[in-house]
Amino acid sequence: MNKKLGKDMDEKLIINARRPEGELGSQMIEIMNESHVKLSSWCINHLNINDNDITLDIGCGGGVNVKKFSEMTPNGKVYGLDYSKLCTEKSSQLNELAINNGKVEIIHASVSQLPFKDETFDIVTAFQSTYFWSNFNEDLKEVNRVLKPNGLIFICNGDIKKDQWGENAEKLVELLDRKMYSKEEFNSSLSEVGFSNISIFNKEGTNCTCVIASKI
Ligand SMILES: C[S@@+](CC[C@H](N)C(=O)[O-])C[C@H]1O[C@@H](n2cnc3c(N)ncnc32)[C@H](O)[C@@H]1O
Repeated sequence: MNKKLGKDMDEKLIINARRPEGELGSQMIEIMNESHVKLSSWCINHLNINDNDITLDIGCGGGVNVKKFSEMTPNGKVYGLDYSKLCTEKSSQLNELAINNGKVEIIHASVSQLPFKDETFDIVTAFQSTYFWSNFNEDLKEVNRVLKPNGLIFICNGDIKKDQWGENAEKLVELLDRKMYSKEEFNSSLSEVGFSNISIFNKEGTNCTCVIASKI
């Protein structure tokens, strides 16, 4: 991943994708900010966004997608949330102007206990974050709770569980203890929790996956 670092350092760096901390966490945030742009742009193209939508980005990392959504929703508001303190600091730096204008808020919390009232958001996004949620169905219930009726959950992942993965995907699953879901698992978890109109898109020739569903 980083040619200047040895294998051991590489692994220490990669582990920081799970919950960035310290110097290696800062490096990982910079890497993610740059390397996730293509995937998130492809995913966002599948979403109809209104300029007054209220959005929550769970696992906001370095805050790039918070910034993107705040530019796309000038009459709305974006909340970025992450359980890494470092991520909330970096996201706050990147979105300083919008925060000062009351258009963005960055919050230190976990998806498992969202500090918001029921039916607050039009859209809840998770870019490459569901791999690390501790209890997918329970955490989806939290997302469902804070969404308005007909609100959308939007999951964007660079990998999906398949019968056969590439060697790299398997290594990452092991190293990061990533939880992966197949199309069928996404469908059944989302339906169980009370989502409908479930659409799952795959970028041809890749594992890039975009999942969109609406709260009933
Ligand atoms: C691979 S990074 C992706 C960051 C960013 N969304 C992006 O696409 O660049 C995963 C992020 O999710 C956050 N995260 C993981 N589990 C979480 C949880 N249970 N609650 C809140 N944030 C979480 C991590 O701290 C990390 O910032």
